Amino acid sequence: MGIESSCDETAVALVTGDRTIIAQRIASQDEAHRPYGGVVPEIAARAHSERLAPMVAATLADAGLTLDDVDAIAATAGPGLIGGVMVGLVTAKALAMAADKPLIAVNHLEGHALSPRLADATLGFPYLLLLASGGHCQLLLVSGVGRYTRLATTIDDALGEAFDKTAKILGLGYPGGPAVERLAATGDAKAVRLPRPLLGSAEPHFSFAGLKSAVLRAKQAGIHADADIAAAFQQAAIDCVIDRTKRAMAAAGPVDALVVAGGVAANRAIRAALEGLATAQGMRFVAPPLALCTDNAAMIAWAGVEKFNRGDRDTLDVVARPRWPLDPAAEPVRGAGVKA
Ligand code: KG4
Ligand code: ZN
Repeated sequence: MGIESSCDETAVALVTGDRTIIAQRIASQDEAHRPYGGVVPEIAARAHSERLAPMVAATLADAGLTLDDVDAIAATAGPGLIGGVMVGLVTAKALAMAADKPLIAVNHLEGHALSPRLADATLGFPYLLLLASGGHCQLLLVSGVGRYTRLATTIDDALGEAFDKTAKILGLGYPGGPAVERLAATGDAKAVRLPRPLLGSAEPHFSFAGLKSAVLRAKQAGIHADADIAAAFQQAAIDCVIDRTKRAMAAAGPVDALVVAGGVAANRAIRAALEGLATAQGMRFVAPPLALCTDNAAMIAWAGVEKFNRGDRDTLDVVARPRWPLDPAAEPVRGAGVKA
């Protein structure tokens, strides 16, 4: 069983060792946060605590199983909004204790990082991973379960955050990524000139804050169609992603597969551009189905399977962590405004 509650999705899933998602439920809190234009941590924690226990029961009922049938309980233990993470982890601890089952604390980012292996049994290690979500934008060399080398990260905003802020500037509401993608499909990317921060830079990292500010200026100029701004933003983001990923490919040395995961991996234009890059470099391209890209509990259950198979177990005193880097040895970056 996997439990996810680190942001604004409450989710429970049952996944087998042979990659079958037997049951999964997911409740989004979009409606609760929409009036505020972003996730309000206290509202999120409260919603998780109201929904999670009934959702565990309902997911087991969907599968016609009881807690006794479950082999282990995995829950996101960070990074994320601490109130929500605590709700999920404490629930998992209670279930593990009551049913006498092993507990596995999962790093949410590891859930994203391993999700492509849930979708594709043929994806072996190592692979080059672009992990792009609302809180993160990293390039990682994934050498095995628990073995992540960070090649690049963002020095300011995450890519999903840039999509969300662009959506806000264009009045598209929350959550922004899918709305910007839809509007961009109807616009002309060449109609608005926007910067491509760090493009061609020797520094390996990403930067999106300047792009976001340029979007705001373009909107305030009052002369561009919103669809053109959205298209220009998405194209600038893609150009940065491709340039930085190319650089990481050179740094990583020979690797068979380029993989993308995290909420932004749901963006079809970004997926297509990455697939083109992988093909040009003679690499395989692997992207999980859209529903496995944004936050879900199947990826947490799957990371639980991978860790369980390695013998990982956690004790009931494991703590929830607002910050939890996948590669603790990675150098801090300038700006270090890297959000959890
Ligand atoms: O992985 P995720 O569900 O939650 C985090 O762990 O952050 O990622 C959510 C992020 C949000 O910023 C959202 O706007 C972005 O992923 N996102 C997208 C798309 N779908 C979700 N960004 C661009 N295009 C999309 N289609
Ligand atoms: Zn996520």
